[in-house]
Amino acid sequence: MDAVILVGGFGTRLRPLTLTTPKPLLPVGNVSILARVIAGLEKAGVTRAILALGFKPQPFIDAFPGNQCGGVQLEYAVEPEPLDTGGAIAFAARFAGISQTFIVVNGDVLTSLDVSTLVAFHKKNAAEGTLHLTPVEDPSQFGVVETAASGQVTRFVEKPAPGETTSFNVNAGTYVLEPSVIERITVNQKTSIERVVFPAMVAQGTLYAMPTRDSWVDTGRPETYIAANMSTLENVQGNKLVHAASRVAATATIEQSVVGPLCVVGEYSHLSHSVVIAGAEIGESAAIENSVIMGVVGSTAQLKNCIIGADGVVEPGEVLNNVKRPDPEGA
Ligand code: GDD
Ligand code: MG
Repeated sequence: MDAVILVGGFGTRLRPLTLTTPKPLLPVGNVSILARVIAGLEKAGVTRAILALGFKPQPFIDAFPGNQCGGVQLEYAVEPEPLDTGGAIAFAARFAGISQTFIVVNGDVLTSLDVSTLVAFHKKNAAEGTLHLTPVEDPSQFGVVETAASGQVTRFVEKPAPGETTSFNVNAGTYVLEPSVIERITVNQKTSIERVVFPAMVAQGTLYAMPTRDSWVDTGRPETYIAANMSTLENVQGNKLVHAASRVAATATIEQSVVGPLCVVGEYSHLSHSVVIAGAEIGESAAIENSVIMGVVGSTAQLKNCIIGADGVVEPGEVLNNVKRPDPEGA
């Protein structure tokens, strides 16, 4: 079976990390989000994945030599300009000549869902499209879905205003679609699948949804990105992951954190609830809490709730709370 993976967003909420690395290529537990997504699809029998890219395919091509990830063959559909979710799905599906039932996933979602159960539910209902749903506490940042007992979707509201819907089940970003959905989208026209295509399918009664209680996270925000990394530490000895190809001083203390390859952590530094990404350098006696570090942190600096991108530099001795560097809003 084919899958289209949406990976063309700008990753705005994860800047400055995404200024140098596209969101799906950021690591979670030292494996890229995208490699984890593809592994989940492979388990469900996907053999070909089309990456729907809005811009810059090169980092993706470099990340998967031979255009393979595990047993899944990768193809790259690069949009002439970002076409939004629906436009991107249609562009990729046309590019790859998809003519049978296929899967679509948001490239930033990590879930333990067995996608083959979603496919079975889709076939049983003879649906045109089937969504995976997950319950969340605050649905305002998601596509909120109301369903009938049969699973038929009766309402789909993307990012609802407060009070607009009472459902706590949201679109979890994995879909099974029939090729007829592609025809609903005009060639090379910017189209949101959530705001335009799904509501049209709801009106015609062809959209279904299956809620599950699988683990689920949209990694696209700093707090959920850190949380996704922390969840890879459950059942890991010492509650930390330190890549063998990094230099961590023997006197450094690492608590509930992930350290990627080619990183340096200096003497007496302390990391807690943090993610240190490939190539980061942390000097001596620095203290880092609930932060993501890709750049350089000078000795004795103290960081809490900070995101330091690849081009970010924290001077020795700086004390920072809630800072992003380089500042994505800055000039
Ligand atoms: N190729 C391409 N082109 N991909 C795009 C484009 C585009 O123009 N715009 C967004 N994407 C990709 C993003 O890279 C991401 O993988 C996916 O589409 C969804 O975009 P996000 O920006 O992450 O959307 P969201 O998280 O606010 O909301 C979506 O996901 C929620 C679940 O996590 C929606 O599908 C919601 O309905 C859903 O609840
Ligand atoms: Mg998202």
